[in-house]
Amino acid sequence: MKYVAVLAASIALLGAAPVSAKDVSFSADIVPVLKKRCAICHLTGQEAGHLALHPKAAFKNLVSHKSEESDWMLVQPKQPDKSYLVMKLEGTHLKSGGKGARMPFAQQPLDTETVALFRAWIKAGALNN
Ligand code: HEC
Repeated sequence: MKYVAVLAASIALLGAAPVSAKDVSFSADIVPVLKKRCAICHLTGQEAGHLALHPKAAFKNLVSHKSEESDWMLVQPKQPDKSYLVMKLEGTHLKSGGKGARMPFAQQPLDTETVALFRAWIKAGALNN
């Protein structure tokens, strides 16, 4: 019974995850993922990829910022399908003219819900909220 209750609570929590664009916050939803899964390799901007993603640098380095290894913007506000960051997370970057590996490099890809947060945040205008 206990297990069922825990499971039900987890499902309820998942259901409450902010997937609608207006609910997604850069600082509350995106930055923690970048910090946990990306900044270890994207810290100073001197590393391969030349992209600092620590909390203070991430916004300015991503939004309306041209990708180094493709012709896309890393984040094109309102257009997740034209944002190279999303392509690198979903693994569609190569067929879109990009290079290199799916991100996070040599690790488990982000789960679908987390990628959906990035998409929703960009769709809502990629605000610094
Ligand atoms: C283990 C190290 C490592 C981790 C973790 C990592 N990256 Fe990378 N990243 C790289 C390397 C190396 C490159 C350059 C080569 C390539 O693209 O495969 C790169 C390149 C990129 C690029 C292309 C930059 C450009 O200007 O075109 C993006 C975007 C990117 N990473 C985003 C991320 C995101 C977002 C995360 C976290 C979800 C992440 N990376 C996690 C090592 C890493």
